[in-house]
Amino acid sequence: MTFIFLSALDGVPDGGAAGFELAVEDDTVPLLALRACDTVRVFHNVCPHAARRLEVAPGRFIVDAGTLVCAAHGACFTIPGGDCVAGPCRGQSLREVPSEVRGDQLWVDSAAL
Ligand code: FES
Repeated sequence: MTFIFLSALDGVPDGGAAGFELAVEDDTVPLLALRACDTVRVFHNVCPHAARRLEVAPGRFIVDAGTLVCAAHGACFTIPGGDCVAGPCRGQSLREVPSEVRGDQLWVDSAAL
């Protein structure tokens, strides 16, 4: 695994989500991070229902009742697990990118992008 820097840890709100555009070679990969206390997990910002991005506007996510809500059709994902618990893709999950917290920084495995 080759890890690359994604964000300062405090860029991901506790109980919420943050979005990132990570430049990889000639492409940009949209990612999101979900955080609950000290646990942070990173996923591709692609909904398993219809492959849409999950945010309502760039970098703005809907969080309701402790879940991340897809802005397109309302699927609800656990925070920080990324598992769909309600909506049109219930039972599916966001596609995770291996990540590590190193001190106050969040790093992701570039091989999984
Ligand atoms: S694309 Fe997310 S619920 Fe449809």
